Amino acid sequence: MNTATAAMRLGLAAACLASAICAADEALLPGDALRDASGPTPSKPTLAVPGGFERGWEKQPPMIPHPIDKYNIDLRQNGCLKCHSPATFEVAKAPKVGDSHFLDRDGVKLDHLAPRRYFCTQCHAAQTGAIPLVDNVFEGG
Ligand code: HEC
Ligand code: HEC
Repeated sequence: MNTATAAMRLGLAAACLASAICAADEALLPGDALRDASGPTPSKPTLAVPGGFERGWEKQPPMIPHPIDKYNIDLRQNGCLKCHSPATFEVAKAPKVGDSHFLDRDGVKLDHLAPRRYFCTQCHAAQTGAIPLVDNVFEGG
Protein backbone atom coordinates (compact mmCIF):
# COMPACT_ATOMS: atom_id res chain seq x y z
CA MET A 1 0.00 0.00 0.00
CA ASN A 2 1.51 3.36 -0.95
CA THR A 3 1.25 6.43 1.22
CA ALA A 4 -1.51 8.01 -0.85
CA THR A 5 -3.81 4.93 -0.52
CA ALA A 6 -3.14 4.73 3.20
CA ALA A 7 -4.06 8.39 3.59
CA MET A 8 -7.25 7.83 1.59
CA ARG A 9 -8.28 4.85 3.75
CA LEU A 10 -7.66 6.87 6.88
CA GLY A 11 -9.84 9.65 5.46
CA LEU A 12 -12.66 7.21 4.69
CA ALA A 13 -12.50 5.74 8.19
CA ALA A 14 -12.81 9.22 9.67
CA ALA A 15 -15.84 9.97 7.47
CA CYS A 16 -17.56 6.72 8.54
CA LEU A 17 -16.94 7.51 12.15
CA ALA A 18 -18.46 10.97 11.73
CA SER A 19 -21.56 9.60 9.96
CA ALA A 20 -21.98 6.94 12.66
CA ILE A 21 -22.14 9.72 15.21
CA CYS A 22 -24.66 11.59 13.06
CA ALA A 23 -26.80 8.44 12.79
CA ALA A 24 -26.80 8.09 16.57
CA ASP A 25 -27.95 11.71 16.82
CA GLU A 26 -30.91 11.00 14.52
CA ALA A 27 -31.97 8.12 16.72
CA LEU A 28 -31.93 10.33 19.80
CA LEU A 29 -34.14 13.01 18.29
CA PRO A 30 -37.24 11.52 16.66
CA GLY A 31 -38.97 14.92 16.54
CA ASP A 32 -38.72 15.19 12.74
CA ALA A 33 -41.21 18.05 12.75
CA LEU A 34 -38.47 20.23 14.16
CA ARG A 35 -36.19 19.77 11.15
CA ASP A 36 -38.43 18.76 8.27
CA ALA A 37 -40.72 21.63 7.27
CA SER A 38 -42.53 19.41 4.73
CA GLY A 39 -43.50 16.92 7.45
CA PRO A 40 -46.68 16.99 9.55
CA THR A 41 -47.62 20.23 11.31
CA PRO A 42 -44.41 21.33 12.95
CA SER A 43 -44.26 21.70 16.66
CA LYS A 44 -45.26 25.22 17.59
CA PRO A 45 -44.25 25.75 21.19
CA THR A 46 -46.53 28.06 23.12
CA LEU A 47 -46.27 29.21 26.67
CA ALA A 48 -49.99 29.86 27.05
CA VAL A 49 -51.82 26.68 27.94
CA PRO A 50 -55.37 27.57 29.05
CA GLY A 51 -56.69 25.31 31.76
CA GLY A 52 -53.18 24.49 32.98
CA PHE A 53 -51.58 21.09 33.39
CA GLU A 54 -52.72 18.04 35.29
CA ARG A 55 -50.66 17.34 38.37
CA GLY A 56 -48.70 14.09 38.42
CA TRP A 57 -49.22 13.64 42.13
CA GLU A 58 -51.06 15.45 44.92
CA LYS A 59 -48.20 17.54 46.30
CA GLN A 60 -46.65 18.42 42.97
CA PRO A 61 -46.11 22.16 42.50
CA PRO A 62 -48.42 22.84 39.53
CA MET A 63 -46.66 23.75 36.26
CA ILE A 64 -47.12 27.36 35.13
CA PRO A 65 -49.53 27.58 32.17
CA HIS A 66 -48.56 31.11 31.02
CA PRO A 67 -45.41 33.05 30.02
CA ILE A 68 -43.43 34.48 32.94
CA ASP A 69 -40.63 36.38 31.21
CA LYS A 70 -42.14 39.77 32.12
CA TYR A 71 -42.44 39.08 35.86
CA ASN A 72 -39.44 39.74 38.09
CA ILE A 73 -38.83 38.20 41.45
CA ASP A 74 -36.20 40.07 43.45
CA LEU A 75 -35.73 41.67 46.86
CA ARG A 76 -38.01 44.61 46.08
CA GLN A 77 -40.78 43.03 44.04
CA ASN A 78 -42.47 39.75 43.24
CA GLY A 79 -44.33 40.01 39.94
CA CYS A 80 -46.22 36.75 40.57
CA LEU A 81 -47.95 38.18 43.61
CA LYS A 82 -49.57 40.89 41.45
CA CYS A 83 -52.04 38.18 40.48
CA HIS A 84 -51.64 35.25 42.88
CA SER A 85 -51.62 36.89 46.34
CA PRO A 86 -54.69 36.68 48.61
CA ALA A 87 -55.24 40.42 48.02
CA THR A 88 -55.09 40.29 44.22
CA PHE A 89 -56.20 36.88 43.00
CA GLU A 90 -59.91 37.67 42.72
CA VAL A 91 -59.44 40.73 40.49
CA ALA A 92 -56.79 38.91 38.42
CA LYS A 93 -59.01 35.82 38.17
CA ALA A 94 -55.95 33.74 39.03
CA PRO A 95 -55.66 30.80 41.45
CA LYS A 96 -54.52 31.94 44.90
CA VAL A 97 -51.15 30.65 46.16
CA GLY A 98 -51.67 27.44 48.10
CA ASP A 99 -52.50 27.65 51.83
CA SER A 100 -49.26 25.78 52.48
CA HIS A 101 -47.42 28.89 51.26
CA PHE A 102 -48.31 30.64 54.53
CA LEU A 103 -46.85 27.99 56.84
CA ASP A 104 -43.36 28.26 58.26
CA ARG A 105 -41.16 25.18 58.41
CA ASP A 106 -42.71 24.17 61.77
CA GLY A 107 -46.21 24.28 60.28
CA VAL A 108 -47.14 27.52 62.08
CA LYS A 109 -49.54 29.73 60.07
CA LEU A 110 -48.13 33.18 59.26
CA ASP A 111 -50.09 36.30 58.28
CA HIS A 112 -47.83 36.74 55.24
CA LEU A 113 -46.27 34.55 52.58
CA ALA A 114 -43.61 32.28 54.09
CA PRO A 115 -40.12 33.43 53.04
CA ARG A 116 -39.34 29.90 51.85
CA ARG A 117 -42.13 30.27 49.29
CA TYR A 118 -41.04 33.67 47.99
CA PHE A 119 -39.04 32.48 44.97
CA CYS A 120 -41.95 30.90 43.11
CA THR A 121 -39.89 29.55 40.22
CA GLN A 122 -37.77 27.51 42.61
CA CYS A 123 -40.69 25.04 42.56
CA HIS A 124 -43.05 26.14 39.77
CA ALA A 125 -41.78 25.85 36.21
CA ALA A 126 -43.27 27.16 33.00
CA GLN A 127 -44.03 24.35 30.56
CA THR A 128 -44.35 24.80 26.82
CA GLY A 129 -47.28 23.27 25.05
CA ALA A 130 -45.23 21.54 22.32
CA ILE A 131 -45.03 18.10 20.73
CA PRO A 132 -42.69 16.18 23.06
CA LEU A 133 -39.34 15.20 21.50
CA VAL A 134 -39.42 11.86 23.27
CA ASP A 135 -42.32 9.95 24.83
CA ASN A 136 -42.78 10.56 28.53
CA VAL A 137 -43.55 7.30 30.26
CA PHE A 138 -43.83 8.79 33.75
CA GLU A 139 -46.96 7.65 35.57
CA GLY A 140 -48.29 9.93 38.28
CA GLY A 141 -49.34 8.57 41.68
C1 HEC B 1 -51.19 38.90 35.11
C2 HEC B 1 -51.60 37.92 36.12
C3 HEC B 1 -50.63 36.81 36.47
C4 HEC B 1 -49.29 36.93 36.83
C5 HEC B 1 -48.44 38.21 36.98
C6 HEC B 1 -48.82 35.58 37.11
N1 HEC B 1 -49.87 34.69 36.93
FE1 HEC B 1 -49.80 32.68 37.25
N2 HEC B 1 -51.72 32.49 36.61
C7 HEC B 1 -52.55 33.53 36.24
C8 HEC B 1 -53.84 32.99 35.80
C9 HEC B 1 -55.03 33.84 35.29
C10 HEC B 1 -53.74 31.58 35.93
C11 HEC B 1 -54.80 30.56 35.56
C12 HEC B 1 -54.58 30.23 34.10
C13 HEC B 1 -55.26 28.99 33.64
O1 HEC B 1 -55.53 28.09 34.44
O2 HEC B 1 -55.47 28.89 32.42
C14 HEC B 1 -52.41 31.30 36.44
C15 HEC B 1 -51.96 30.05 36.73
C16 HEC B 1 -50.75 29.78 37.39
C17 HEC B 1 -50.34 28.48 37.91
C18 HEC B 1 -51.13 27.17 37.80
C19 HEC B 1 -51.90 26.90 39.07
C20 HEC B 1 -52.64 25.57 39.01
O3 HEC B 1 -53.29 25.24 40.03
O4 HEC B 1 -52.56 24.86 38.01
C21 HEC B 1 -49.12 28.64 38.50
C22 HEC B 1 -48.28 27.59 39.18
C23 HEC B 1 -48.75 30.03 38.34
N3 HEC B 1 -49.75 30.69 37.66
C24 HEC B 1 -47.57 30.57 38.79
C25 HEC B 1 -47.14 31.86 38.53
C26 HEC B 1 -45.81 32.35 38.82
C27 HEC B 1 -44.70 31.54 39.44
C28 HEC B 1 -45.79 33.67 38.43
C29 HEC B 1 -44.61 34.61 38.46
C30 HEC B 1 -43.38 34.18 37.81
C31 HEC B 1 -47.12 34.00 37.92
N4 HEC B 1 -47.89 32.87 37.97
C32 HEC B 1 -47.52 35.27 37.49
C33 HEC B 1 -52.23 34.87 36.26
C34 HEC B 1 -50.98 35.40 36.53
C1 HEC C 1 -40.93 25.37 48.03
C2 HEC C 1 -41.75 25.14 46.84
C3 HEC C 1 -42.76 26.21 46.41
C4 HEC C 1 -42.56 27.57 46.26
C5 HEC C 1 -41.28 28.37 46.50
C6 HEC C 1 -43.83 28.12 45.79
N1 HEC C 1 -44.75 27.11 45.65
FE1 HEC C 1 -46.65 27.28 44.93
N2 HEC C 1 -46.99 25.32 45.32
C7 HEC C 1 -46.05 24.41 45.75
C8 HEC C 1 -46.69 23.11 45.93
C9 HEC C 1 -45.98 21.84 46.42
C10 HEC C 1 -48.06 23.26 45.57
C11 HEC C 1 -49.16 22.20 45.57
C12 HEC C 1 -49.58 21.81 46.94
C13 HEC C 1 -49.94 22.99 47.78
O1 HEC C 1 -50.91 23.68 47.47
O2 HEC C 1 -49.17 23.24 48.70
C14 HEC C 1 -48.22 24.67 45.19
C15 HEC C 1 -49.41 25.25 44.77
C16 HEC C 1 -49.51 26.51 44.20
C17 HEC C 1 -50.70 27.03 43.54
C18 HEC C 1 -52.03 26.30 43.38
C19 HEC C 1 -52.81 26.47 44.64
C20 HEC C 1 -54.09 25.67 44.66
O3 HEC C 1 -54.87 25.88 45.62
O4 HEC C 1 -54.31 24.81 43.80
C21 HEC C 1 -50.39 28.29 43.10
C22 HEC C 1 -51.31 29.24 42.36
C23 HEC C 1 -49.03 28.57 43.52
N3 HEC C 1 -48.53 27.47 44.18
C24 HEC C 1 -48.36 29.76 43.25
C25 HEC C 1 -47.14 30.08 43.81
C26 HEC C 1 -46.54 31.41 43.73
C27 HEC C 1 -47.15 32.60 43.02
C28 HEC C 1 -45.35 31.34 44.41
C29 HEC C 1 -44.39 32.47 44.72
C30 HEC C 1 -44.93 33.59 45.48
C31 HEC C 1 -45.20 29.95 44.87
N4 HEC C 1 -46.30 29.24 44.50
C32 HEC C 1 -44.06 29.47 45.55
C33 HEC C 1 -44.72 24.67 46.00
C34 HEC C 1 -44.14 25.92 46.01
